[in-house]
Amino acid sequence: MFSTASIARFNQLETPFYYYNLQLLQQTLEACLQAARQHQFHVHYALKANFNSKVLQAIQAAGMGADCVSGNEVKAAIAHGFDKGKVVFAGVGKSDREINAALDADIFCFNVESVQELEVINELAAAKDKTAQVAIRINPNVDAHTHHYITTGLEENKFGINTWQLDEVVATLKTSANLKFAGLHFHVGSQITNLEVFKNLCLRVNELSEWFEQQQMPVRVLNVGGGLGVDYYQPDTNNICDFEGYFNVFKQYLKVKAGQEVHFELGRALVAQSASLISRVLYVKNGRKKNFLVLDAGMTELIRPMLYQAYHHIENISRQQNEDTATVNYDVVGPICESTDCFRTGVALPQSKRGDLIAVRTAGAYGEVMASGYNLRDHVQSVYSVEQEQEVM
Ligand code: LLP
Repeated sequence: MFSTASIARFNQLETPFYYYNLQLLQQTLEACLQAARQHQFHVHYALKANFNSKVLQAIQAAGMGADCVSGNEVKAAIAHGFDKGKVVFAGVGKSDREINAALDADIFCFNVESVQELEVINELAAAKDKTAQVAIRINPNVDAHTHHYITTGLEENKFGINTWQLDEVVATLKTSANLKFAGLHFHVGSQITNLEVFKNLCLRVNELSEWFEQQQMPVRVLNVGGGLGVDYYQPDTNNICDFEGYFNVFKQYLKVKAGQEVHFELGRALVAQSASLISRVLYVKNGRKKNFLVLDAGMTELIRPMLYQAYHHIENISRQQNEDTATVNYDVVGPICESTDCFRTGVALPQSKRGDLIAVRTAGAYGEVMASGYNLRDHVQSVYSVEQEQEVM
């Protein structure tokens, strides 16, 4: 819900833009860290979810580490003051240039996804006379029960090393003088709302970490990835995840030995609810079978509905709904020359007019960062909450 002060401000601004509620972001970070601290869990923020500079500043100031998936994300994390001892570089296709830059930056650890990658990092580290810490990303074959485009931990996915290759991994680690084995890394998927999935992950991690110990490979870090889902349906009433419930699953089911650290890489759960995409109705097209609201934002600003059929709550914030407002079902579409450029069909909204402000909620994760320049569109702007606007929560 937006305060009248915010709506008045939006009315003065050019659309579309992402509106960041920095107070909610702060509260979310605090809730997460407070819950994690109870169990001495370490949280790394997955920059891929949102690398907007103000967002990164807030997360760095909160003291989290950084989970990066490109050389530029490593650079951005360091430029924003993240402690290099808490920067992890993951990703299935790290280039030599990116690996070299991360070695130069003395980051904490590389999460490695293949035997060949281990060999390459060893070679590049040797050339610099350095030792690279590595964690092995294992594909645990645990079903995340989420959209198939964001499932990563099944054998058919491109991510991680499959368990039948682990003998080779251990042999490579033992003969690679410039690698230091730090531990194990897992990530089974994103937008996971069924906590049972994390329980299954824990049970698998226990087996695999035991296996490494038996090979005389002490596991210091258990990195269980991210994936905690958010409530896209109730962005106002359920705007901060149940971090306690989430961490409790790991506390209960993960076997943590003395001296072992447990690391998390959360993205979406930290930032999703803190932003909305604000746009204007350009045109209202009333048809025989359908009514369309044509917005000035589309898949170039927020691609999630088009790419994953993702639900985002849509509101006309210029017309607060009350009992006597007529409701119309609209297909809410963007201006892009693609039929798929539709946020959702049949959205019940108060009768809307050209110029009305439309908010697409829960857009703080994988929103602004997945924007594109297709159709040579302008890059979407960002607007930040100011103290006095305190949104109604
Ligand atoms: N760690 C690894 C290795 C990952 O691949 C990801 C996300 C994360 C952590 C953070 O996951 P999160 O806590 O945000 O679920 N663009 C898609 C989501 C892609 C997720 C990619 N990996 C979407 O908009 O739903």
